[in-house]
Amino acid sequence: MHIFKIKEEISKYIDDKKTLIKAIGFVPTMGALHEGHLSLVENSKKSNELTVVSIFVNPTQFDNPEDLKKYPSTVNQDLESLEKAGVDAVFLPTTDEIYGGNVVAEKYDFGNLDKVMEGQHRKGHFDGVATIVKLLFDIVKPTNAYFGEKDFQQLQIIKNMVVQKRLIINIVPCAIVRESDGLAMSSRNVRLSEKRRNEAPFIYKTLKEASKLSKTKTVKEVYNFVSECFDKNNLLKLEYFEIRDETNLSEATDFQLDKNYRAFIAVFAENIRLIDNIRLF
Ligand code: PAF
Repeated sequence: MHIFKIKEEISKYIDDKKTLIKAIGFVPTMGALHEGHLSLVENSKKSNELTVVSIFVNPTQFDNPEDLKKYPSTVNQDLESLEKAGVDAVFLPTTDEIYGGNVVAEKYDFGNLDKVMEGQHRKGHFDGVATIVKLLFDIVKPTNAYFGEKDFQQLQIIKNMVVQKRLIINIVPCAIVRESDGLAMSSRNVRLSEKRRNEAPFIYKTLKEASKLSKTKTVKEVYNFVSECFDKNNLLKLEYFEIRDETNLSEATDFQLDKNYRAFIAVFAENIRLIDNIRLF
């Protein structure tokens, strides 16, 4: 496995390979890798002759400096699992290598997509995500890029950015990977206390109940059900629960049979923020 820290060096490595192969798969990450990331790698390996992973904790997507400071870093372990997973190359740049002296995000117009949920609660987050993903795409120039559906809103933002920037890159959504008790895998899970970790599967359990209810109840009744569940839980604090149209993230007022809906949730376990989502019906 090749490890690069300099953008020109990885670009040259990829350009040289490009003459011999058809498809390059790319998995951008912020490290602290878990099975969810490795499933993205697995998907990439199935459809591409070369798989590239980046590990870069992107400062411009954090609205909370404490969250950035506390973001887990396990680089040696990450490199070991990527090597085992059969990754061809890893890009491990410094902030300076990516941004030079100018650590700012480009301003995007995503319409409604970044005004709601994560965008509403984490100001500037999606400008930061789109900025880094575009910069990485310019360096790696992948054929296919892989993103997990746990960050479903991020996935829609990236698809939109690719259209806005007229990039010819196929964005491949990958299913959420869960712990055996249902908790969606996240790099933040390791920061949970034992008590909160034991309680956290309640999030997915509630989402599954909400999904079941959505077959027979109104949108409002499903919202009420979820909010009552969390009112009774004193270890997990609900930040938002929202039911939205999958394609444009507009809020559902009533369920229409010709639309695809998803329920989205953000929960605080003490100061650790967990998100999850589920497709309805
Ligand atoms: O999902 C993530 O880990 C990050 O938002 C991403 C896509 C790697 C950009 O920094």
